[in-house]
Amino acid sequence: MSTDPQSPDSISRKVERLVQGVQTSDGAGVRLTRVLTQTLQRRLDPFLMLDAFRNENPEDYIGGFPDHPHRGFETVTYMLAGRMRHHDSAGNQGLLGPGCVQWMTAGSGLIHSELPEQADGLMEGFQLWLNLPARNKMTRPYYRDIPSEAIPEFTTADGVRVRVIAGVSHGVAGAVQREHTEPLYLDVHLPAGTRFSQPIPPGHNAFTYTYRGTVRVEGTEVPDRNMAILSNDGALQVTVRATGEARLLIVAGQPLNEPIAQHGPFVMNTGEEIQQAMRDYRDGLFESASVQSL
Ligand code: FE2
Repeated sequence: MSTDPQSPDSISRKVERLVQGVQTSDGAGVRLTRVLTQTLQRRLDPFLMLDAFRNENPEDYIGGFPDHPHRGFETVTYMLAGRMRHHDSAGNQGLLGPGCVQWMTAGSGLIHSELPEQADGLMEGFQLWLNLPARNKMTRPYYRDIPSEAIPEFTTADGVRVRVIAGVSHGVAGAVQREHTEPLYLDVHLPAGTRFSQPIPPGHNAFTYTYRGTVRVEGTEVPDRNMAILSNDGALQVTVRATGEARLLIVAGQPLNEPIAQHGPFVMNTGEEIQQAMRDYRDGLFESASVQSL
């Protein structure tokens, strides 16, 4: 590595834009913040959506997400607090507790539900949607439930704790590796007065989402519950600094540069493929999908 402070290795990506997202509700009345909305899909290709939820009041989450379909992409659910049970049309089910991840490749399609398994207390977590390349959109659906203890993590000399959900960080391979989009998904916990650097290939689109405290990225403050879209300026890494204790997600991936056609839970490349998805759903093809549990 170069020691030249002006070399691309040591310069961090900058914050291009802060995004607070949109307060909305989805499923059966679950209150959430849609941080990555449809208007940012092209800028943050291959990511299609990020929802953040942090609800103390059961009325804001108890309805959960009853049966609904997906086709053409992957959903990544990361729980911080609370319990969510999922069922799918092939009879699979699983329980996600604090620190657990469900990585689901919807592929050609399935129907599932995601319902809280608690009547009170905090429900907190994230759901990220990751696009599939055109040639994999109709792949057989499968999912992995990853228990918290199976998510690799490490602690830096400064005491920064890093959970590696996907990709590789500081030589630690995450729980999930995906070809084509090469997603990086880190949950980073910074004690007060620390910093953390993560290499990111220059061509990959990247963002952070602060969910506790405030971090600084190249002179820009990124407050609690803010996404920072990181510039694609040739820098080979991002460096985050925390004055007080802070936590954030760092997410990056290789863009697909393919057309994006979305209608609700269907994300394909063309309008005709969306029409086909709606016909297949109406004709019951999703209900009879075989879903593999890995
Ligand atoms: Fe879903």
